[in-house]
Amino acid sequence: MGLLLPGILLLSVSTLTAGLDFQQGSKPGQSVFVKRSYINEKAARIVKRSLPSWLSASSAQHRIRRRSTEQGDSCKTLQGYDTKLADNTHSYPFNDLSGSVSLAWVGDGTGVILALTTFQVPFFLLRIGQSKLYRSENYGKSFQDVTSLINNTFIRSEFGIAIGPENSGKVILTGEVSGGHGSRIFVSDDFGKSFSHHDLPFVPLMQITYNPGDSNVLLVLSTSYELWLSEDFGSNWKKVHDMVCLVKWGRKNTIFFTASLNGSCSDRGMLELRRTTDYGKTTKTVANKIYSFGLGGRFLFASVMTGKGTLRMIHVSVDQGETWNMAQLPPVGHEQFYSILAANDEMVFMHVDEPGDTGFGTIFVSDDRGTVYSKSLERHLYTTTGGDTDFTNVTSLRGVFISSVLAEDNSVQSVVSFDQGGEWVPLRKPSNTKCDATAKDPDKCSLHIHAAYSTAMRLNVPMLPLSEPNAVGLILAHGSVGDAISVMKPDVYVSDDGGYTWIKALDGPHHYAILDSGGLLVAVEHNPTQPINKIKFSTDEGQCWHVYTFAEEPILFTGLASEPGARSMNVSIWGYRESLFSQYWISITIDFRDLLTRDCDDKDYVQWLAHSDDISDPKDGCMLGYKERFLRLRKDSVCWNGRDYKVNTVPTPCLCTLDDFLCDFGYYRRENSSECVEQPDLKGKVLEFCLHGKEEQLQTSGYRKIPGDKCEGGNIPERKEIDLSKRCVSDLVGPELLIDSRSSRSVPIVITVIIITMLLSIAAGVLFVKKYVCGGRFLVHRYSVLQQHVEDNTVDGMDDPLETNHTQNGKIEFHDDSDEKT
Ligand SMILES: *[C@@H]1O[C@H](CO)[C@@H](O)[C@H](O)[C@H]1NC(C)=O
Ligand SMILES: *[C@@H]1O[C@H](CO)[C@@H](O)[C@H](O)[C@H]1NC(C)=O
Ligand SMILES: *[C@@H]1O[C@H](CO)[C@@H](O)[C@H](O)[C@H]1NC(C)=O
Ligand SMILES: *[C@@H]1O[C@H](CO)[C@@H](O)[C@H](O)[C@H]1NC(C)=O
Ligand SMILES: *[C@@H]1O[C@H](CO)[C@@H](O)[C@H](O)[C@H]1NC(C)=O
Repeated sequence: MGLLLPGILLLSVSTLTAGLDFQQGSKPGQSVFVKRSYINEKAARIVKRSLPSWLSASSAQHRIRRRSTEQGDSCKTLQGYDTKLADNTHSYPFNDLSGSVSLAWVGDGTGVILALTTFQVPFFLLRIGQSKLYRSENYGKSFQDVTSLINNTFIRSEFGIAIGPENSGKVILTGEVSGGHGSRIFVSDDFGKSFSHHDLPFVPLMQITYNPGDSNVLLVLSTSYELWLSEDFGSNWKKVHDMVCLVKWGRKNTIFFTASLNGSCSDRGMLELRRTTDYGKTTKTVANKIYSFGLGGRFLFASVMTGKGTLRMIHVSVDQGETWNMAQLPPVGHEQFYSILAANDEMVFMHVDEPGDTGFGTIFVSDDRGTVYSKSLERHLYTTTGGDTDFTNVTSLRGVFISSVLAEDNSVQSVVSFDQGGEWVPLRKPSNTKCDATAKDPDKCSLHIHAAYSTAMRLNVPMLPLSEPNAVGLILAHGSVGDAISVMKPDVYVSDDGGYTWIKALDGPHHYAILDSGGLLVAVEHNPTQPINKIKFSTDEGQCWHVYTFAEEPILFTGLASEPGARSMNVSIWGYRESLFSQYWISITIDFRDLLTRDCDDKDYVQWLAHSDDISDPKDGCMLGYKERFLRLRKDSVCWNGRDYKVNTVPTPCLCTLDDFLCDFGYYRRENSSECVEQPDLKGKVLEFCLHGKEEQLQTSGYRKIPGDKCEGGNIPERKEIDLSKRCVSDLVGPELLIDSRSSRSVPIVITVIIITMLLSIAAGVLFVKKYVCGGRFLVHRYSVLQQHVEDNTVDGMDDPLETNHTQNGKIEFHDDSDEKT
């Protein structure tokens, strides 16, 4: 049907489907660089594409000015930086031919970096390899070869370098005893200065994990699915349980795991969810008929078989599995999946996959109990193949999220939400750009952001979008300007107001980093074939860029490394040089401290009101019930924020309006109305749902504050609370689930009759639906008969050696599993 338009990224769905709920994301806080010969290019499969009207219609609605007050200023030249930087450029060549190097920062503000290089002969069965370990104590300016500390053991680089939580200084490397007959770990508790080793009585299946609350306690699954635990930092190990399929640390020394009764982890849906709070001395089954589980914020989620065919549903617990509620979310079949996109203690973004191999699903946002959900975004791109979604929490401004939708024509388009998923709109076209060939109207188009999906499609996108909590409002991302994400060479775009407005900052793909809490940005052009010797930097949030030649002889560049947390002034350029017979690694570290000659003082900061588009309006800047003023560095100030810089914010509460509330169980909003009215179908009828798995009084006025909303006074709905208590009945769940056989409270019994579930989740979604999501039409999510698909589990495996796997800090929560971040 559709025209074949040039250069549009379209969905390519593979037939492989991994119906794994709550998939794991990649490892945080580490960089892996590989030389080019290691990269196996996989051509992106591009298929075809028209534009949904709702996307183009709403783009003009936000009147936002750019933050910059110095608009129009041409870039001032910065004097004499070349010599200053040349005096602070430190080059360190490694006498090392290995194919890949993994970097890890140990501790916070210690300047300690471990670099592990691995050379592996590419025979899959015969693993012959060699590892070398290097250590720096000065932010990468120089390294020491400390390979002797690991006695030349081959370290399994796929498990990476396991850095302990907080500033514990703990490091674990997992190695192989020669001949591959066993495993040995090297542990350090002094920031990698010394290592001791222990032989493991098992072969680990995964990276060893630390108890986030006590770094001496370690946990790991073995290749024969045994759960092993050590309470003395790896010296002694005890087996906690057999046939464990998935394990995660909860809070306060709690361990959650799923165990199989039949001895097979492929027997999903028959697993038991168990909990131990005393490191395995006692365990308690907290739920059964489990397919999978996940943790996010204070919520524990389990997908539980309903007893109706292959359908499963999400159950939620906020008390570590003691009591469960059924989430008001659609059930899914075995070829579908649930995923926690982001979660904190207040709420969760949940993705529910669409039936069939569509590559998209629906985002729902929860209430503060995790049980009532509002529909937030339809056709949300999330491929089941690699578990790729563009969903990004913009950590530099509260409430901002960016993701991608799959349009009707299969093109991929970016959307942004400024109010925690309430409404999603296209990103504004940067003022200094023209629409590309993907745009039907050359003057009307929007910005599209490249994120995980583009990387998975092997587009020329070296880095994911970047934002840091201490660099307020700042976002750096690759993108293109048109009607959809383009497969052509992307450029780098910068926003300084949390994603409302953008400028094109750099031509072509770059690696970038935020230093000095946003006071300094650096970027290096990404060119896999051409050696480079230039780094660009900006002291005005990406408006003007200066170029510094860091070496006479160019290097083949693989990636940038700077201390996580964006407070550093030191950045390392990693790459390698080729001579006639060999390649060797080189790291060039630049200390920018001397560039910014003075510390910032009060005059260098200006007030900025976040989420603001009309200062004269008293409601201006209100987001989830409060506005925040920040003191931000003036763009024309060239000074040093310093390591101790703290984000300075003054929150003021806003008056409540009905839009600060969502509709509770049994209520809904009529189109174009903010009032929650009782669901007419339920009036005078028995309302068949309940909380906490038993009959109970349910008092509600129909309104419930949106999670995180801090509005005060104003229009608080005052209404008599009515009692909705009813019996718990269901035709979704078999009777055996309603009567728990093990412990009286372990199994969720909170079930809803299908039709009511449907109405309720629509009701809750109307606030959002009416605004944008579907152009004013009412969305009806049907619990249609789910299609059956052949399931084929993909390997829940290692990252492919992408050229750089520069996982950013703060992206930890990306897929779920996010308890450690809070
Ligand atoms: C390395 O090997 C030597 C001798 O075999 C041993 O004494 C030492 O403890 C080992 N060091 C480590 C870190 O394993
Ligand atoms: C698992 O065990 C149960 C009871 O012990 C049995 O009914 C069921 O068929 C078994 N499933 C498989 C896949 O072996
Ligand atoms: C998004 O990131 C911010 C900053 O790190 C964090 O405070 C917030 O809780 C995150 N939101 C969600 C829903 O995970
Ligand atoms: C940069 O590295 C030096 C050590 O080489 C260190 O003293 C300094 O604190 C680092 N700067 C920052 C801002 O981290
Ligand atoms: C809701 O508002 C939209 C736009 O203002 C309008 O087109 C639509 O007819 C309204 N719907 C109802 C039911 O009033």
